[in-house]
Formats: sequence, C-alpha cells, structure tokens
Amino acid sequence: MGAILDGNRLVLGTCYYPEHWPKEIWREDLERMLAAGIEVIRIAEFAWSKVEPTEGNFTYSFFDEFLDLAEEAGMKVIFCTPTATPPAWLTEKYPEVLNADINGILYRHGARRHYNYNSPVYQELSARITEKFASHYASRPCIIGWQIDNEVNCEMNVFYSESDSKAFRVFLKEKYGTLDALNEAWGTAFWNQTYTDWEEIHVPRKTYSDSTNPHEVLDYTRFISNSARNFVKMQSDIIRKYLKPDDFITTNGLFGNLDNHQMVKESLDFMTYDSYPNFAYCLGAYDDKPGNMKDRKWSRNLAEVRSLSPVFGIMEQQSGANGWNTRMEAPTPRPGQMTLWTMQSVAHGADYVSYFRWRTCTMGTEIYWHGILDYSSRDNRRIAEVKDIHAKFQGMKEMAGSIYEAKVGIVKDYDNVWDAQLDVWHGRVEEASQKALFKALQLSHTPFDFVYLNDASNAEDLKKYQVLFYPHATIMTKEREAVLRAYVEAGGTLVIGCRSGYKNMSGRCVMDKLPGLLSDLTGTDIPEYSFIAPDAGKVTVKWDDTEFEASVFADLLEPVGDGKQEAAYTSDYYAGSGALISNAVGKGKAYYYGSAFNAESARVFLEKLNVINPYGDIVKAPEGCEIAVRAKGEDKFLFVLNYDKNPVQIELCKKGTDLYTGKEVSGQMELAGYQVLVVKL
Ligand code: GAL
Repeated sequence: MGAILDGNRLVLGTCYYPEHWPKEIWREDLERMLAAGIEVIRIAEFAWSKVEPTEGNFTYSFFDEFLDLAEEAGMKVIFCTPTATPPAWLTEKYPEVLNADINGILYRHGARRHYNYNSPVYQELSARITEKFASHYASRPCIIGWQIDNEVNCEMNVFYSESDSKAFRVFLKEKYGTLDALNEAWGTAFWNQTYTDWEEIHVPRKTYSDSTNPHEVLDYTRFISNSARNFVKMQSDIIRKYLKPDDFITTNGLFGNLDNHQMVKESLDFMTYDSYPNFAYCLGAYDDKPGNMKDRKWSRNLAEVRSLSPVFGIMEQQSGANGWNTRMEAPTPRPGQMTLWTMQSVAHGADYVSYFRWRTCTMGTEIYWHGILDYSSRDNRRIAEVKDIHAKFQGMKEMAGSIYEAKVGIVKDYDNVWDAQLDVWHGRVEEASQKALFKALQLSHTPFDFVYLNDASNAEDLKKYQVLFYPHATIMTKEREAVLRAYVEAGGTLVIGCRSGYKNMSGRCVMDKLPGLLSDLTGTDIPEYSFIAPDAGKVTVKWDDTEFEASVFADLLEPVGDGKQEAAYTSDYYAGSGALISNAVGKGKAYYYGSAFNAESARVFLEKLNVINPYGDIVKAPEGCEIAVRAKGEDKFLFVLNYDKNPVQIELCKKGTDLYTGKEVSGQMELAGYQVLVVKL
C-alpha cells in the first residue's frame, strides 16, 4: 500500500514540524534524516493557520516552499489535515464549534482537540480546509499519503456541546423511529424518565451521583463513535478526489469510544498506531512487582492494531523522554530500547516505523517532549541507534508484508467493550480477564490475535483459530450466537467466561435463564451467581487434578442438554457446584467457565486446550522474552524479544538465518539486555 507498506522492505520515518523551526535549518534537517536512513516525514497536522491565517484567506507558500525542498532532497512526505487544532480566529468567531464538559462549560482555545464533531460550522470549515489542502498539495510528487486529523478521540472522547445534543436526537430518531421504541429500549419507565418529545433528550448531563440512564449512555457512546467516524469519512471522501493512484489515507490511533474497525473499513487504507512504551517506566506509575508486563504491555495494543490492519504503520514511535503530562518522568530510552520497541512493533506487523519526533520541542505544552535529537540537535546516541536500526532493516526486507501468526483469538465486540466501561462493576470482571489472558499468553509464548465480532461477522473469519476466548460476552444477539455456533460446529473450541449472555443490545438484562442465548451452545444453566465477597477467602476450582483460584465472580453452573461438568468449585458454599461446563457441538466444543480469569487459570486453559507455546520445539526462552512469528508463504520470521536489561539464555532448536548479520544460527545463545533476535527459519 503506497510507498511505506509496499511489501518489499521496512521503512523508517519521523514526525517533523517545519512550522517550529527557522527555514534556514530545514534543508540540513532533511539531509541529516536521509543520512540516518529516514526516508519519510509526517507534517502539518497542527498547522491550519499556516494555510488559512485568517478566515477564508488561503496561502500555500509556506508548505510549497518546504515541499520544494523535500522534493529536492528526495524526502517522502505524509501530509495531514489540520483539524485537530482549529485556529484562534475560528473558535473566537464561532464558539459553537467548541466541545463542552458535562456541565456545558466550553473548552477554550489554548490546547488541542477542543472542537466537537457535530458543529455544522466546524464541519463546513473542516471540509473546506481539507479540500484546500488536498486540492493544492496532493499532486506533489513527494507526497505519498495522508493522515486525517490527529489521534481521533484522543484526550477527549466525550462531547457535550449543543450541536451534540441536536445530532444525538437525529441519531436516535434514525435508530428508533418512535419515542415509544426509544422509551422501551432505554427502560425509561424506571424513575419516571419517559420522554414525550424528542427535544427533551440531551447528551448525558450532570445528574445526582452521575447516574445517567445506562442504556442512554450506551447509545450515546455509539453516537460518539458515529460522529467521529463521519468526521473522518467526510475528510477521506474529499482527499480521495485528489489522491494520486498509489497514495494512501490513514489516521493514527487507537482511542476509545470509536469503532476503529468500521472507521478503517469505510475511510482508510490502513491504520497507523502511536506507540509510547516508555510510559511503563514513568515515575509514580512504575510498578516493579514480579510479573508486571511494563513496556511489553504495548504488544497488547499492537495486537489491537493488527486486528484492524494485519500489516500497519507506526506513525509515532517513542524516541525520547516524554513530555508535558509527566515532564520527562518517563526517562530517555536506555541504549537498545529504541531498537527493542521498534522491533516489538515490527514483530506484530509494522512495516513502517516513524519516530516521534525529529527534534526536541523548545516551546509550548510539549516543551519537554524529546525526539531523536535533543534541543541542541547535536549528533547523539539516539540518532546513532536510528542509523543502526536502518542497517538492521536492510537485512529484514524479505519479511515485509508477512503476517503475524496466532492460533488463539480473544473475541471482542464494541457493544460489550462500551457496556463494560460504563457498567463499572462488570468492567472489573472484564479488565481482570483481559489482563490475565494477555499475561498468560505472553509469558507462555503463545501468540494471539484480537478478533472483533459484529452482527455481520462470518464464521469463516474465526476458523483459523484453534481456540477462541470470549471472556465476558455480556451482550449477546442471535446473529452473534449463530456465528459462534458455526465456528464450534466446524471444529473450533470456544471458551466463554462468567456473566455472559445476560443483556440485550440496549444493555437491558434479559429475563431468560442464564446464560441466555448462550445456554444451548454451552450446555449450561446458571441457577445462582455472586460476586466473590472480600471475606470469602480463596475460592478454588478443581479441573481434573489441577486446582486453581477463581477470580472476582462466581457463576454456579449446572449442565443442561449434552453439557458435561468439567470442573467444580472446591471451597465455601460454592463447593460442589459446577465451575466449568463443556458441550460438544458438531466437530468442536464450547466451554462455559463460571469466573473471571486470572493469570493462573488462563494458563491452565491454555495447557488443557493444547494451544500453549506453539513454537516450543523451535525456541526455548525465559518468560521475560516475547516470542512472535510473522509468516509469508513458506517463510517464517521468528522474533525473540528480551525486555530485560540483563542478558538471558535462549536456545534455538532449529537452524535459521540471523537477519541482523546474515549468518546461520542455532543452539544455545545469549541475548544481551534489550536485544532482539530476528531469525528466518
Ligand atoms: C501523541 C500525539 C503527538 C504528541 C505525542 C507526544 O499522542 O499524536 O502530537 O502529542 O503524543 O505527547
């Protein structure tokens, strides 16, 4: 896809801000970048005023001059639309474009992302600046692609302006048609919330103890997602009219209250991600408890990106100490860490890695955000590391376009993600399981994918996975149940966790026996359930000879139909009740587990279901290393990433080619602190 994901090589880039620096240093900057192996820059995402300094007056010379230089130097450019930072003249004249907090207080000029997506004025002026940017610059030979806005829904992903209430009503009228249908879906009979006129409906407002109707908030979250997606699509449709044939449209993410999958599908060619693993080392936030995943946790986010675009780009990869919110409290990457984090991104499918940022900012809110170069821009260790990464990329070319391999999937869907963030107690179950599964999978060297489900999903999308975990499918629909059933019938293994199937799409609880629509598929009935009380002590489960601890919640299970009790609780009044039921359906099996996962129970499932450590006969490495494999045709590319600052011993049980050196390797070897081994098998 375009010049950065062409399937032939791995490409380096950086984020550059011509508007931050005197023109006299532009040329030297570009030449130094190219000499370091950086061949792409991203520019202009916050530079609206450089093109429209006052309303309706457009001047293109600033970026024309810069792009002339870029073309002369041979630098490729990702150009951005500047809508993340409206100019002062705009918000001053049209305050209705501003976002507001839940009390209706407007967010003023001075930061960024302070606009709302639904203001007709902002939509019009954003469409116009996008049209001006695209029509003027898109034909430039140095431009290879476009980034829309910057980090859609970052920093601010709730919107409470007047325009939002108006647009929310339109969204709800389209969705429900009548107020009767809306009242029913939102359960407004409760606490006399019945609406008799559409004008009575607003985006959530301040209420006593912030207890807004949960069904309204769920729809409101869907509405935010739609608003953001429509804003991106509006820009993407404009840019496409001017796009050169090989050029691409992307945006950088990933942020909440946004159906990123639908956004990519309708507006983008692929997703890019901003990866800042050094936040794991922030003073205050740092947690050195054994088993803490620290910077390795970013592999979870990279798995999310892969679910959007199996081959993707990193638009911003951390290259220096972090800035404004923690004022350099996330320290400068230690020698080797930039390479480690770059390879972490590549291991998951990034064929393009662009560092944030070329030079350290000397002003403004990000005054302390360090880039590759420090304030003086003298040559330093980090630019030397970039050069070294570029050299390493030369040996890794043939893996471009290859896809991360996984036999385990974690199923998610936006309705449940959004319902869990609002239904705070359920979030506890969901969060515990998500963390535990990730940890158990990572530490046991078991690669996994995230798989997003919606009512249009097809069992074909799921069949490549031997095992799927759908930890807490609270909201369930007949359509989704049918997809899961077809997956199991075809031979798949599905594991569902506690509190599943008890809500409908409005987030209202169903009156069926639990787990509702999942009862038949899992052969399970849940006559009783409870949070595990703090005084309950250790609640244990026994599966064959293996005993492990239940977490957070206990559904007490009974088999129905052909369901078979596999495990029982062994403590407290739960003792003897079913904790795990299996149900053979077609060629596969569905499991219902009555609790949330912890790292121990998740590991037991991986072992029992025979999916743990699939590369165990190829490589042996300590838990502190991540194992990933990208595959293209018959070729397999193995990554062993050492996140520890100390050396570790590993064993490669098969001969392969070390892609850094081109030499054949096998047997026992030592990986230095932060070292990554990249081997073609
Ligand atoms: C990103 C953002 C950049 C910059 C960076 C460092 O989230 O896209 O503009 O702010 O973080 O804070």
